[in-house]
Amino acid sequence: MSDGIVSLHAPGRDVLPAYVGALEAGWSPNTMRDVAPEQLAAIAADPEGFLAGLNGRGGKIRLHDGSEVDRLPGIIRWIIAADRPERPFVGSINLRWQEDEAGNPVPGLPSHVLGHVGYTILPNHAGNGYASAALAAVLPEARTIGLPFVKITCDADNTASRRIIEKNGGRFIESFVAPFYGPEERLMYWIDLQ
Ligand SMILES: CC(C)(COP(=O)(O)OP(=O)(O)OC[C@H]1O[C@@H](n2cnc3c(N)ncnc32)[C@H](O)[C@@H]1OP(=O)(O)O)[C@@H](O)C(=O)NCCC(=O)NCCS
Repeated sequence: MSDGIVSLHAPGRDVLPAYVGALEAGWSPNTMRDVAPEQLAAIAADPEGFLAGLNGRGGKIRLHDGSEVDRLPGIIRWIIAADRPERPFVGSINLRWQEDEAGNPVPGLPSHVLGHVGYTILPNHAGNGYASAALAAVLPEARTIGLPFVKITCDADNTASRRIIEKNGGRFIESFVAPFYGPEERLMYWIDLQ
């Protein structure tokens, strides 16, 4: 999936060295928890298994408090910048959703999942429009999956993320606090897909 300045790629062997470089530099693809150390260890032990895990379904994920929950169905996409042919890996975006027992997507999310979409850009590549383009590029995938809207939340003081969501048609729903993740005020948006 491409939106001009970026294309979204399923995690693969070609981009893995750049991904490792970003983890080694301290970047984490998960905004709620630093997963760099455990991902580096997993890649060193079994790179193909690591990639298969990112691209697969099922299993557990660990939350920031150490508890483990079932992993939702989802896709992870690595963000490849068109204007950086030599070192094009600039970040990661993921989409997750819940399914009913028949395997159909349902719009709701468990309480520990604050939104359908999460994204992070490598700090040295921020400010180039990559996250905005990546969100635009993932929305058709969400539509194809059958979601009627995506819910996205961000910290109230994350001005860049608010702008990214609003530029992509985000409709402000409410501000809220998710005590499980801390006392910060957060903002919830919906992007309608129908
Ligand atoms: C937030 C983050 C995703 C932004 O990525 P990015 O690629 O730099 O974002 P973009 O360049 O696509 O767009 C940022 C927009 O916010 C604006 N912006 C950036 N910093 C801003 C600030 N401090 N105040 C106001 N606007 C700001 C930019 O001007 C741009 O808007 P514009 O296109 O109208 O000019 C990136 O910094 C990041 O990964 N941060 C850590 C993880 C995170 O916060 N993820 C989001 C979780 S909801």
